[in-house]
Amino acid sequence: MKASQELLWLLPLIAPCVTATSSWNDQCCLTDSQANYIARTWLPLNVKPPSAWLTNPYYNQTADKLLAPTFQLYSDSDNYVGAPPPNNPPPGTVTAASRADWIEQQVDNEANPDIVNITVTVLNIVHDCNQIATRWRYEGYYQYAGPEDGLSDVAGNQIGATGFDYLLLGGCPKQIVTDYREFNSLEFSYELGQYICYQRNNQTRCAP
Ligand SMILES: *[C@@H]1O[C@H](CO)[C@@H](O)[C@H](O)[C@H]1NC(C)=O
Ligand SMILES: *[C@@H]1O[C@H](CO)[C@@H](O)[C@H](O)[C@H]1NC(C)=O
Ligand SMILES: *[C@@H]1O[C@H](CO)[C@@H](O)[C@H](O)[C@H]1NC(C)=O
Repeated sequence: MKASQELLWLLPLIAPCVTATSSWNDQCCLTDSQANYIARTWLPLNVKPPSAWLTNPYYNQTADKLLAPTFQLYSDSDNYVGAPPPNNPPPGTVTAASRADWIEQQVDNEANPDIVNITVTVLNIVHDCNQIATRWRYEGYYQYAGPEDGLSDVAGNQIGATGFDYLLLGGCPKQIVTDYREFNSLEFSYELGQYICYQRNNQTRCAP
């Protein structure tokens, strides 16, 4: 086969891959430094206490810059950890319905949370013009002598979880429109000393 024939044969295979991202001609395509900035700014913003949101305008300004007004967050992990069974919302449901809703959740978070001194380390980032996938590690410290809220951990213990956020961005400059997030809820719960006994068909099975 001649080189030119090989090229013709390959073209139909290559072309759909390029156009499938619908981004090669995006005038506002994310650069490496923009994708890095967005991932490394957005993830730590999720673990700031209400006191920070209420006193420092940086947080609202940064959320307004990073998130589209129609932003939505989906996270079955958040659903599980935020409201343990039987009160947890169904899997697959939205955990923040707009940018304003998400900010309000940060302000309404527990003033004196179980976990303090939280850091989020971004481990990997891949992106194209309008999508970012990022993997991260959350670490914090349990601050109660326990048991507290049904948890059995002891003060000073380190709590961690590794997770992924898959971000869809739009507009120019790009803002986050949708965030699909998941993390290792079982590791998180285990380290908190939670007794994990949720059953799909009998949520009272493990009740005390
Ligand atoms: C940030 O926005 C929230 C929600 O509107 C508000 O309650 C809070 O006071 C704002 N923070 C600052 C520092 O203005
Ligand atoms: C959090 O950090 C502060 C300041 O370094 C420290 O005094 C405190 O003991 C830490 N709390 C926990 C639970 O690790
Ligand atoms: C659910 O679990 C509880 C506690 O073990 C048990 O008493 C009850 O019969 C179970 N319900 C069903 C429908 O299996």
